[in-house]
Amino acid sequence: MADASESGGKTALEVEGLTAGYGDIEIVHGIDLSVSEGSLVSVVGPNGAGKSTLLKAILGLVKVFDGSIRLDGHDVTRFPLEQLVRRGIGYVPQVDDVFETLRVHENLEMGGYLLDKPTRARRIEEVLEFFPVLAEHMRRYVGTMSGGERKMVAVGRALMTSPRVVIFDEPTAGLAPTLVQSVLEDQARALADRGKAVLLVEQRAHAALQLSDWAYVLVQGRVARSARAADVLSDPEMGEVFLGGAVKS
Ligand SMILES: Nc1ncnc2c1ncn2[C@@H]1O[C@H](COP(=O)(O)OP(=O)(O)OP(=O)(O)O)[C@@H](O)[C@H]1O
Ligand SMILES: [Mg+2]
Repeated sequence: MADASESGGKTALEVEGLTAGYGDIEIVHGIDLSVSEGSLVSVVGPNGAGKSTLLKAILGLVKVFDGSIRLDGHDVTRFPLEQLVRRGIGYVPQVDDVFETLRVHENLEMGGYLLDKPTRARRIEEVLEFFPVLAEHMRRYVGTMSGGERKMVAVGRALMTSPRVVIFDEPTAGLAPTLVQSVLEDQARALADRGKAVLLVEQRAHAALQLSDWAYVLVQGRVARSARAADVLSDPEMGEVFLGGAVKS
């Protein structure tokens, strides 16, 4: 049977039977999901489906009731975020993803605070190689930058630990429509093409699916469909899941 692992290399992140929520309330029920090296996997679905809750459960930010999360084959269920970062997960949150009152280079240094100085300097070079345009802005305060530029800083910060898995929570939320395509393409897709396992939660389903290898459609806290992104895109029934009509961006 086709599954997410065929779309890339070795499985990096594997979620099995994950049930999670807030207080006593279960929001996501028995989620199975996997992300391989070199692939971009999207989680899409209507508002309130539990997409953010699923991410937060993986990242140790909400209560996991049942199920498991494995990173490179090691059980990391209920590990706090800092430990997950140490073990190779990079997280780009939807909000509060940069320090606005700090300069670009300071933001990058914060992302690498766990590292020794030479490694940190080397990683900054790697980030600038990935985002050459940031080199011109290193001394700028992030608060003065555009939404797209800030996202670059946020991703750059997450890349400082050289993660093997990169998790994006709605990277295009609040961005001008003209920036949506480039953020998804130059950041999420480009990282997958460089061998990272990329997990993307996006409300702009159409734009995300066009660039993704695999898609999980989440409805009412359950995986309603797990398929090649192209197959989800071309399925007219899937249009019903989003906004009650055609799959839109
Ligand atoms: N902190 C919280 N405490 C209690 N319930 C919450 C909390 N955060 C979210 N929920 C509930 O969990 C459900 C799923 O929310 P979640 O934010 O995961 O959905 P989502 O798929 O990310 O939606 P959206 O597309 O609007 O971002 C919703 O019913 C929401 O009201
Ligand atoms: Mg959400």
